[in-house]
Amino acid sequence: MTTSYEFTNDTFVLSYAHPLPEGPILPINQFVIRGSEKTIMLDTGPLFNAANTVEALSKVINPQDLDYVFLSHMDLDHVGGLHEILKLAPKARVVGNVTVMGKGLSMYNIPPHRFAAVFPGQEINLGSHVLRVEESLVEDGHTSWLFDKTTRTFFTSDGYGSLQFGQPQPYAEMVDENAYAQGFAMWQHMNFHMLPRLDLAQFRGIINYMRKLDVRQIASVHAPIVRQDVMRIFDLMEGVPGAELPPVPPLPAIFHL
Ligand SMILES: [Fe+2]
Ligand SMILES: [Fe+2]
Repeated sequence: MTTSYEFTNDTFVLSYAHPLPEGPILPINQFVIRGSEKTIMLDTGPLFNAANTVEALSKVINPQDLDYVFLSHMDLDHVGGLHEILKLAPKARVVGNVTVMGKGLSMYNIPPHRFAAVFPGQEINLGSHVLRVEESLVEDGHTSWLFDKTTRTFFTSDGYGSLQFGQPQPYAEMVDENAYAQGFAMWQHMNFHMLPRLDLAQFRGIINYMRKLDVRQIASVHAPIVRQDVMRIFDLMEGVPGAELPPVPPLPAIFHL
């Protein structure tokens, strides 16, 4: 099931709680912004959940009115609902960076006339909201993020995700602080293998760029919405390259000679 709710002005999250082996839950979110002139959806969820995504989308907007579908990157948990949505959204253009364009057209059969490429620093004007395309600062370079200058919401993708333990919550402040920090560190390390090898001064510089933006909300595809104490999350991210992780489990018995 995918739930939906408005977390800031005309800005909605569609959220699906995906169970992983051994208990943790991976939130998989999509976002919708209803601007006064234009509307946008950010990412489209996993393929196996496409019907639920479409149903949740239809509760917050008539898909026929959708102008843009922004794809942060081309992993299947972000693009799986695309074709179902495009069928219902005849005027929607798919928007993404040049990697999204390359993979999208060659591997995902996105019609070229429905695609528009955007570059970091460019702005998507929805009327009452202006979104700036941002480089993905703490995840793989083939991903783009968006910053809503109006609500000061930073939409990240895999970056800033946090595995959840137990009943998933809509907002980060509803989760036990230590559990959040643990799920946060685990997720970043699962996704970004380069983290322990990063230049820490450079990494801190990246986080500082975000610290200075007066971010009011962090909306990651893979975490509850952060709307309180955003600076705490930047501190968490700064500590991730050196974070203590659970020990590596022993090699399964099937490998014993
Ligand atoms: Fe990904
Ligand atoms: Fe993802």
